[in-house]
Amino acid sequence: MSSADAEGKAVSNGIPAPDLDLPYPDKPEIITENLQKLTELAPNERTQFIFRNLIAKLHEFVKETSITTDEWMTAIQFLTRTGQTCTNLRQEFILLSDVLGVSALVDALNNPQVGNTTESSVLGPFFTEDAPDVAQGESIASEGKGDYLYVEGRVFDPQGKPIAGAVIDTWETDGNGFYDTQYAKREKPDCRGRLRSDSDGKYFYRAVVPVPYPIPGDGPVGDLLLALGRPNMRPNHLHMMIEAPGYRKLTTALYPDGDEWLSCDAVFGVKKSLVINYKDIDDEAEARRRGFPKGSKFKLLNFDLILPTVEESKAAFAQLAKQNAANAL
Ligand SMILES: [Fe+2]
Repeated sequence: MSSADAEGKAVSNGIPAPDLDLPYPDKPEIITENLQKLTELAPNERTQFIFRNLIAKLHEFVKETSITTDEWMTAIQFLTRTGQTCTNLRQEFILLSDVLGVSALVDALNNPQVGNTTESSVLGPFFTEDAPDVAQGESIASEGKGDYLYVEGRVFDPQGKPIAGAVIDTWETDGNGFYDTQYAKREKPDCRGRLRSDSDGKYFYRAVVPVPYPIPGDGPVGDLLLALGRPNMRPNHLHMMIEAPGYRKLTTALYPDGDEWLSCDAVFGVKKSLVINYKDIDDEAEARRRGFPKGSKFKLLNFDLILPTVEESKAAFAQLAKQNAANAL
């Protein structure tokens, strides 16, 4: 609804008519030119730069495809449904960004690998803020949620110095291929938890073996993939997000080798350095020692996390941005 003054009359946003003497937009190219001139009014330089580029490419796309009125309305209805599908536990827009490869692209540009540091991967739509705190060695999954997995490793800086007190958020599917948020009834968070590395940088916890899963197919993004003839599967993986003061926040995931969907991940999250191998353990005493309540079998995943400092990360981003700008010229 428009703003109203004290007498109830509709008022503008307060920005005066620009002194630009724009021609009437009675030809397609004048629409684009006028809009670009108006975009120069944007007070923030970065906002102006981003929108000049967006408008140029969006208008070019409309012209190059000779998009029909019906097609454009279909696109608008699709975006409307995407928004309407979002809830506080479902993020269809992130899913859309993921399947279009934009999330992976933004992630790759913003988190260039610095030296030997751990590479990033897409956040995905299933992170939640309500993961419970778990002590080292505890399980992030309720009993019966899947086959046993034990995860351990250390958190280091690039020089090999342990990082103590790093906060590690970790989340995964259960053995059925669902995140807890996908169940109609979610009494509490499950298959997710938050722990801290100890004074030696060590972290260790129990989990379940994640399985490959389809990204949600019951919404507009699912319909889009069907229209494009694309599978909606992700290879199995374990999500991790690591934060420590002075270091770049790392959002990543680990992908066990041998999964048929590794090279055609629906959201383009897999990187070679993140493909890992489990060790199969079959030892009853060892299973008890690590806290598993029954049986003798579990998989062991050992992975060290190496975080660049904020300064190192900023320098790498600036260098990459400069290269990209030079390539665009
Ligand atoms: Fe995932």
